[in-house]
Amino acid sequence: MLAGTGMPPRAGYSLPREFYTDAAIFEQDMERMLLKHWFCAGHVSSLPKAGDYFLAELGAESVIVCRAADGQLHALLNVCRHRGSRVCVARAGTAQGGGFTCPYHAWSYGLDGRLRAAREMPASFRHEDAGLKRLALRVLEGLIFISFAASPPALDDAARALANAAGTHGWANATVAHQARFGIGANWKLALENYMECYHCQPAHPEFARRHANARPWAQAADLERSAHERSRALGIGIHSVDHYALESLPGQESVSVLRSALLPGHLTGSADGQQVAPLMGAFPQHDGNSTYFDIGPISDFLAYADHGLIYRFIPRSVDRTELEVIWLVDAAAEAGRDYDLERLSWLWQLTSMEDKQIIERNQEGVNSRYYEPGQYSLQEDYASRFVAWYLAELGVTSPAQRTGAAAAR
Ligand code: FES
Ligand SMILES: [Fe+2]
Repeated sequence: MLAGTGMPPRAGYSLPREFYTDAAIFEQDMERMLLKHWFCAGHVSSLPKAGDYFLAELGAESVIVCRAADGQLHALLNVCRHRGSRVCVARAGTAQGGGFTCPYHAWSYGLDGRLRAAREMPASFRHEDAGLKRLALRVLEGLIFISFAASPPALDDAARALANAAGTHGWANATVAHQARFGIGANWKLALENYMECYHCQPAHPEFARRHANARPWAQAADLERSAHERSRALGIGIHSVDHYALESLPGQESVSVLRSALLPGHLTGSADGQQVAPLMGAFPQHDGNSTYFDIGPISDFLAYADHGLIYRFIPRSVDRTELEVIWLVDAAAEAGRDYDLERLSWLWQLTSMEDKQIIERNQEGVNSRYYEPGQYSLQEDYASRFVAWYLAELGVTSPAQRTGAAAAR
């Protein structure tokens, strides 16, 4: 049992209060789960040329993601090897002079992290040992994944699933059309649980629910889903559902899931009028009336329509603060103003993300109450329930056997 926990967690129920409120448990979340997995930092199109960089944060950590002169991408810990200052402070930009200079005492580093210059150091100082620490980085279908772990989980399963899902949607040849950050005053698990279930979609997201079949109970949506899948097959779009998420992950492999879900009749994509908002992407000869959800690891989620895509980056910052960065992708050849209108493109997920921010914050306020008790998940919250079971197993609160038992009992 973790320090500070009172009531033991119960399978199929939301977590006891301290899991959403205790700073010591947040530190365990970081150590035992968040720093061990892969997370998506963004899309390669944000770093088109040598010297381009952006910062990716997780908890109190900050990482410089940059492109070196040889075209290689690097993930460098944004902690100076002299006395620990942040080296890079601007959120994104282009490094001047082919590297980064610490603003404190001006040690300078190359784009690959190597220390280039440090003034007046004693003879015993070894330049080669004082480079910025480098993290694991992989690019899959244009998506940049980073892990803090010395031996992160293997990405074979994730790479295969992404090649099929993001690959078919043409994400390797996409560009960032827009990005927005939503500061959420809540624990990261409340934000993720909310993302993992669509039980709240009908009451909290009327516009989303008018467009997406997954806002309905499965039994009501089954016919719609079946005919949408048939339409996809007829167009030669063969995206496979994968369910290795959380409980079903193979040992040593990063978790992955891919879920195809229908759009409701009259809607080609996630837009206000149901009509196309950007040029078709990847292998899509026309709209198939489907959308593709995929998740890699615990905090990186994606949604692809035939004409645009979305990256949802959940960024746990502290026990009661989470940021959500939403990134809109379009085909690399598409031009704003000519091929798409930014307002039309971003309308649904600006609105839905603002609604989510509000409901997640209200959830946190209620959970903070001394009268809060864990409540039972509905059938439509199966993914949220699985997410929590996975989390508890990662923290070592439940054993893998208990986790399997919880899954069987559902
Ligand atoms: S802390 Fe960076 S140069 Fe001194
Ligand atoms: Fe939502």
